[in-house]
Parts: sequence; C-alpha cells; structure tokens
Amino acid sequence: MRALHIISSPRGKQSYSRGLSSAIVERLLERNIVKTVVERNLIENVTPHLDEVLVKEFYKIPEKTDSNPILSYADSIFCEIKEADVIVIGTPMHNLGVSAPLKAWIDQLVRFGITYGYGNDGKRYGYLKGKKVYLAIASGGRSADWPENFEFIASYIKAVFNAYLGITDIYTFRIEGTASNNFEANYEEIIKSLK
Ligand SMILES: Cc1cc2nc3c(=O)[nH]c(=O)nc-3n(C[C@H](O)[C@H](O)[C@H](O)COP(=O)(O)O)c2cc1C
Repeated sequence: MRALHIISSPRGKQSYSRGLSSAIVERLLERNIVKTVVERNLIENVTPHLDEVLVKEFYKIPEKTDSNPILSYADSIFCEIKEADVIVIGTPMHNLGVSAPLKAWIDQLVRFGITYGYGNDGKRYGYLKGKKVYLAIASGGRSADWPENFEFIASYIKAVFNAYLGITDIYTFRIEGTASNNFEANYEEIIKSLK
C-alpha cells in the first residue's frame, strides 16, 4: 500500500496542517497500513495555474494528447494519485477555504476523460475509486464559532473528490484555534480515532 502526502501550507515546518498530516502518515506507517509514502510539497514545487493553452488541451480527447509537454505537470500528478492507495492532504484554512496551492493542484488533477467520464446511462463516473483520503485542516479559529453553513473545506474536498475522482472514503481531522495565545498542538489526541 502506498500513500501520497500532499503538503499545501506556505508555513514550512511550523505549519499545523503539515504537522497533523505528517502525524497521520506516521500512524499509517506504524500500523503497516501503508509501506511507502510519496510526498508532494505544493509550496516547494509550485503548481502551474491554468491558462488559455492548458485549458484548450484539457478539452481535447485524451488519446490525442499523449506525451504533450503542456500536460506534463497534470500527467505527473495524475500518475501519483493513481498509484496511491491512500491520500493524506494537509491544508490550512485560508479565508474559509482550502489553500490556493491545493486548489491549483485540484484544478490540474481533475480532467474529463482522465479522472472522470460519463457512462452510457449519462451518469458521471470518477475513475479513481477505492482510494482512501485523510484530510488534515488547520484553522486559526474554531468551527464551533462559525455558523455550520460556513464549512467550505471538507465539504468542498468531499464534493470534488466524489464527483470528479470517484473517491468517497474521506476522513477529516481538524486542528483548530491555532491563533489562540499559547496554542499547543496535540496531534496524537486529534488522530486517536484513526483506524
Ligand atoms: C491568508 C490567511 C487567511 C486565513 N484565514 C483564516 C480563516 O478564514 N479562518 C480561520 O480560522 N483562520 C484563518 N487563518 C489562520 C490559519 O488558518 C491558521 O494560521 C492555520 O494554522 C494555518 O495552517 P498552517 O499552520 O498549516 O499554515 C488564515 C491565515 C492566513 C495566513
């Protein structure tokens, strides 16, 4: 079993989302749930944003875009996720949403004909079924202090992974209140329910 670890906070090793996602990865290794881990740090390796040329390529029939250098980043991140059994994603809460680097990665990953398509019944199918996702979210504030309908991170990840990748097995862990005075992270406590 192989894990893909996505890091998307710009705060380097100080990042709480990275601390939490790393604790999840460690736990998966300890329990022999995964044997190998591939790390993709979206800050050290910046995802190219979509532009006119790339979007045009995205709309072409996939068989006609083999080994196209414009798609090399999109192809490489697709291969990484395809080969992974488990995906561990760390994201800071930035203005109530996922981090911009994570959004850019998702925009390069999701592709018609590659990650999803339509069956004869007209229904949309994701092609990456059977994978498990652990989502680690860090926020300065606490979700209890916001109205419930202000939750945009886990709901967004669940929706996009379900609709465009076919991944439905998604577990969310949160480290909250990181902006509080004398905040101390207790990752073990947060992930104690991790099976
Ligand atoms: C640009 C920016 C926007 C932020 N927006 C929010 C927010 O909307 N809600 C919140 O609770 N915290 C917000 N924060 C605080 C971060 O969520 C908090 O610092 C968290 O620990 C970041 O994760 P990290 O430690 O992995 O970088 C924001 C921080 C920054 C830098």
